[in-house]
Amino acid sequence: MNASRGVALALAVSIAGSLALVVIYVVGGSIQQQGIGLALALGGVGTAIVIWAVALIEAPIEIEERHSFATGREHAVVVDSGTGTQEISRRRFLARLLAGAVGILGAALVMPAFSLGPQPGTDLFRTAWRRGLRLVDLGNRPIRPDDLVADSVTTVFPEGFVGRPDSQTLLIKVSPSDLALPSDRAAWAPEGCVAYSKVCTHAGCPVGLYRAKEHLLLCPCHQSTFDVLRGATPIFGPAARPLPQLPMEVDADGYLVALGDFPEPIGPGFWDMTHTPADGG
Ligand code: FES
Repeated sequence: MNASRGVALALAVSIAGSLALVVIYVVGGSIQQQGIGLALALGGVGTAIVIWAVALIEAPIEIEERHSFATGREHAVVVDSGTGTQEISRRRFLARLLAGAVGILGAALVMPAFSLGPQPGTDLFRTAWRRGLRLVDLGNRPIRPDDLVADSVTTVFPEGFVGRPDSQTLLIKVSPSDLALPSDRAAWAPEGCVAYSKVCTHAGCPVGLYRAKEHLLLCPCHQSTFDVLRGATPIFGPAARPLPQLPMEVDADGYLVALGDFPEPIGPGFWDMTHTPADGG
């Protein structure tokens, strides 16, 4: 088989692989089948390029004798009827085949874009917490400050959203005199109750350990440690941002209620930005 046929065959395999990849994707074939199609598509193009390059590199070096620049009648006849025309048409055919293979492969690689879900919009910047929603435990029971034992920690959710991952919150009761919150948050801790997002600001693990004696919250994943008395400021570990604090108060019936959503996005580093007025936060 000469080089031209090898290139043509490899490109034909690539085109078949790309088409198979599209068909398998559309009919919902397995990842393994899609992988085989992609391997054929990429492998075909790669093989064609290698054969082409090797054929060019190994082309014999021919030194043409210098001759008169005048184009004689005899020479013109040779060009018109010689193998040059055939070689040009073959190259053109292979170039078109290569362009087709690369084009179909490109189209096949765009297909996975249709698997992307809807845009998240502002969902990543908001949780279910809203003004007036009561804090409830896993049993959907609303909570009064008096229900809490000093130095205890309880996982709470907004009423009606029990179990929602982005809204899980740690409710801790400490002595009000021990608190050293930023001045603009002093009113967010009625009767010494403070509430922080349970989603770690490092990589999103649930912050589940509380060392009551030191008033420290620990994330079990990479040991980030947050100071509960000082607004859950990180004092150790990779987390660089405090756990967002939930603004809350006690309602007329004596239950803890949220004053709104967390003031900052919860969770890891990407969300290390505050709400903008456009977000409505
Ligand atoms: S996810 Fe919490 S410290 Fe890494």
